[in-house]
Amino acid sequence: MTATNKSDMGKKIKPDVLTLVRKNIVDMKPYSSARDEFKGDAEIFLDANENPYNSDFNRYPDPLQWKVKEKLAPIKNVRSEQIFLGNGSDEAIDLIIRAFCEPYKDSILITEPTYGMYAVCAELNAVPLIKVDLTNDFDLDLTKLLNSISSSTKVIFLCSPNNPSGNLLDHKKIIGVLDAFGGLVVIDEAYIDFSASKSFTELLSSYPNLIVLQTFSKAWGLAGLRLGMAFASKQIIDILNKIKYPYNVNTQTQELALKTLGDVNKKEQAVREIIQQRSILASELLKLSITEHVYPSDANFLLVRFKDAPGTYKYLMEKGIIVRDRSKVRLCANAIRITVGTPQENKNLIIALKKL
Ligand SMILES: Cc1ncc(COP(=O)(O)O)c(C=O)c1O
Repeated sequence: MTATNKSDMGKKIKPDVLTLVRKNIVDMKPYSSARDEFKGDAEIFLDANENPYNSDFNRYPDPLQWKVKEKLAPIKNVRSEQIFLGNGSDEAIDLIIRAFCEPYKDSILITEPTYGMYAVCAELNAVPLIKVDLTNDFDLDLTKLLNSISSSTKVIFLCSPNNPSGNLLDHKKIIGVLDAFGGLVVIDEAYIDFSASKSFTELLSSYPNLIVLQTFSKAWGLAGLRLGMAFASKQIIDILNKIKYPYNVNTQTQELALKTLGDVNKKEQAVREIIQQRSILASELLKLSITEHVYPSDANFLLVRFKDAPGTYKYLMEKGIIVRDRSKVRLCANAIRITVGTPQENKNLIIALKKL
């Protein structure tokens, strides 16, 4: 996939996304489960080799999780068939690479530093990786990024707000990537609820090559359930559904997700508290003599540059406080990533750091 030159931006005619899919995946016949072949209610189900004796979980779950999608669609302002649900958004990351990238041939492009699973899934699938540094304030260098795209690049992953830096990427630059690139652009919005930005889902109809990832693990507080979302055109979602494991989201996860989606206010209240705590924690950290810089955050964590990150990390660990030492990560020398906790947890962290 090549980038178009600047004068073409916004006018590029995108290839049909189906032409980007690996040929074996277009050609393959997907597994057809009992629940794919018969949908609806019946007196007696003898089609899936389940145990007939009732427990809460003796039946297989809905393979396509329609009830959850129908509840989620109006909240996200998309259609149900534009939603893929997976075992965390990590599943979607893996499936996107597997569906669109020919091993040893097609490449994905990621920015650095960013969330680690894009590179892990690329390696797992034997897909070459192109890495492009973010700027020193962790934004996109659009020219450098576009110049790094090769003829084999199929997917670009952009994480906004970015992990581990916490900032939103510049909206116009993301649009620049979407306009210029003929392959898929995945925007990972795992932390979008903690930012003031709107989701890129509102541009799905303008960009057939756009996939937006979100998750129930952060703002919704359901990391233990493992439920991630991908939003895209029906064509792309159909491909992901074609290659996923038949029953990738279990019954309990579907039921609890439905219940949680019924209480959007609870999520919004938690988000408000976390955002408030984020700014208190940032200003307390800034007062410490061991702190060099607190990066601005649009997420539920702070990236903090200390005078001695490894020493600070070790000291906190000995006090029973676990943070993430990111000092070996590109552009993150002496930086630690700190998740915003409860008011008491944040207080205890600051008390401990004051004693260092
Ligand atoms: C940017 C980003 N994307 C995706 C994920 C994975 O989310 P999930 O729990 O839905 O697999 C994380 C988890 O930390 C993340 O930071």
